[in-house]
Amino acid sequence: DAEALQAQFDDVIARNERIEPRDWMPDGYRATLVRQIAQHAHSEIIGMQPEGNWITRAPSLRRKAILLAKVQDEAGHGLYLYSATETLGTSRDELTEKLLSGAQKYSSIFNYPTLSYADVGTIGWLVDGAAICNQVPLCRTSYGPYGRAMIRICKEESFHQRQGYELLMTMMQGTDAQREMVQESVDRFWWPALMMFGPPDADSPNTARSMAWGIKRNTNDDLRQRFVDMTVPQAQVLGVTLPDPQLRWNEERGAHDFGEPDWEEFMRVVKGNGPCNAQRVAHRRRAWEDGAWVREAATAYAARSAVLGAS
Ligand code: 3HC
Repeated sequence: DAEALQAQFDDVIARNERIEPRDWMPDGYRATLVRQIAQHAHSEIIGMQPEGNWITRAPSLRRKAILLAKVQDEAGHGLYLYSATETLGTSRDELTEKLLSGAQKYSSIFNYPTLSYADVGTIGWLVDGAAICNQVPLCRTSYGPYGRAMIRICKEESFHQRQGYELLMTMMQGTDAQREMVQESVDRFWWPALMMFGPPDADSPNTARSMAWGIKRNTNDDLRQRFVDMTVPQAQVLGVTLPDPQLRWNEERGAHDFGEPDWEEFMRVVKGNGPCNAQRVAHRRRAWEDGAWVREAATAYAARSAVLGAS
């Protein structure tokens, strides 16, 4: 009966074990997983746009090959994550429609433009670095398919982060103009990267429940702090300054104090009024519509094969 099923679910969560697709789960647990995993998948797919913007203008064949591989990886991450949401009873078509209608979102970070080639390195270093901070704990999330997808994704993200850092290091050892291009890029992406972790815990309507259900293993502020502490020494080695005058090591806390992101800007971008929101969704809509004939042909072929196979 319902009580026994709830007790069984609670027991698995309390023991930090996995809930699998066929297990009973509360509707709220299923709904917040669909919400979070779908938006994570949308982020991977939309994230291909800002990075893809520089594929045709990469400065060498090596850089072009690396960037191509990275953008293809992001598509694969989207695929794993949409597959994880399908185990919860949603379809990819339904999720794509929700993305295109604005009913579901994607990470705010991808609503910022990639104005210079240094942005390719900065996205690898800071955006994928932030994604790693956020995604490593998700390898232990209570929902099986999501946690398992994260393990593969984290391995590839670590590669992305290193290639971005190496790209920036190469530029920092180049000309003054290249060093200025890197610093200007870091100045534009630092605060939006901190916003990737979500609003402050006090303003996060989902964190408490997601922590209780073992979906989230750390709060937004914890992971943001972890990212700052990890990134400051990397910035020092790189020779760039992070655009936060309040950033300093706090011996007592054993962590860095840092300034407050502009949460007004964050809400504006999340609500659809960032620099590139309309462009990103229009691009995705065009790709979805241009690809309709492929889906129809594949569906017709599958139906015909099923009939022939059966006869
Ligand atoms: N961008 C857009 N929306 C955001 C956001 C952001 N950076 N941060 C929070 N929000 C939204 C939430 O979705 C929620 O709205 P909703 O209820 O309509 O979904 C609202 O703001 C309140 O935020 P909460 O903190 O209460 O929401 P969550 O508990 O879901 O926490 C999160 C937000 C930390 C992003 C969490 O959803 C999460 O960990 N998601 C999985 C990781 C993810 O999506 N990462 C995307 C990074 S980009 C990426 O991975 C691509 C890589 O290749 C670079």
